[in-house]
Amino acid sequence: MLIKVKQGWELPESAATDESIFNARRGLLKSMGLGSIALAAGTTGAGIDSSMALAAKASGDPSAYLYPAKRNEKYKLDRPLTEEKFAVTYNNFYEFGSHKRISKSAQALKIRPWQVKIDGEVKKEMTIDIDDLLKKIPLEERVYRFRCVEAWSMAVPWSGFPLKALVALAKPNSSAKYVRMETLFDRGIMPGLRQPWYPWPYAEGLTIEEATNDLAFIATGLYGKPMPKQNGAPLRLATPWKYGFKSIKSIVRFTFLREKPETFWELVQPREYGFWANVNPKVSHPRWSQASERVLGNSGRVPTLLYNGYGEFVADLYTDLEAKLGDRLYR
Ligand code: MTE
Repeated sequence: MLIKVKQGWELPESAATDESIFNARRGLLKSMGLGSIALAAGTTGAGIDSSMALAAKASGDPSAYLYPAKRNEKYKLDRPLTEEKFAVTYNNFYEFGSHKRISKSAQALKIRPWQVKIDGEVKKEMTIDIDDLLKKIPLEERVYRFRCVEAWSMAVPWSGFPLKALVALAKPNSSAKYVRMETLFDRGIMPGLRQPWYPWPYAEGLTIEEATNDLAFIATGLYGKPMPKQNGAPLRLATPWKYGFKSIKSIVRFTFLREKPETFWELVQPREYGFWANVNPKVSHPRWSQASERVLGNSGRVPTLLYNGYGEFVADLYTDLEAKLGDRLYR
């Protein structure tokens, strides 16, 4: 990824850097005697281990008794699961920094008490406590592929519930055509919010048809445990047919709307990160190809699949829109 003058919105170089090169750079830092600096930035091998220990500590979560949830066998993987250590230490969570090693700083996230507001075009607006929400909707485990727009991917076991169950709880009016989701905004614990060129709070959106498709999942856990903070505790979205930036983390608000909401990355750079963001290997990102992906923990690349391989579940959503939107469906 060649960026001469780096803009605030541009993804960091590590985003498109082969992991072996990234790791070799970390080794180089150590051999240069910069271990302590790198440690502070959470970039050493020891950093990975202590991040995992921190993630495990998150099982002090009051919802820990709900895990592991029973697996829903409808969704199968075509590849092995990604090792947990990669999924919990190689993250995007810009509220904690615009780089991948935020797993330590994200431990500042306070996940209790956690209130979720449901408002907009609904029969009755409500605010519900996460633990009450978790009592209302049964949890299940689903193994999903995950494809980041930066051309890396993983395959992980999420626990949680279908988003359509939350939509049913919200009782939207027939006028509701979209659902907008918003991440916690807390300047006290999220250093990334000091970067004023980003349109905080992080927000994402889906059409009602997408939100009520069985594949759209609200994940509350990962690898049979409550969600690690760096992965978006206590609840985040998982839409495996879309690029990963749609999977908004640490959600505090669901708003039902008549009109298409503005979303974080679309506001930052609409040419590169659109509202729809459906995975398509044939539609390149303006600065790199989307034809293949680097699977976290593996060397080499594998071909990327249309809708990330989930076409049988979601392609119908887009048959009418395809003619109207063309490539915009896939950015
Ligand atoms: N949600 C919030 N609130 N902030 C973010 O920066 N990054 C997105 C998405 N959700 C992001 C977010 C991007 S770009 C990706 S690829 C995924 O989270 C990464 O999820 P992971 O760290 O669990 O792999």
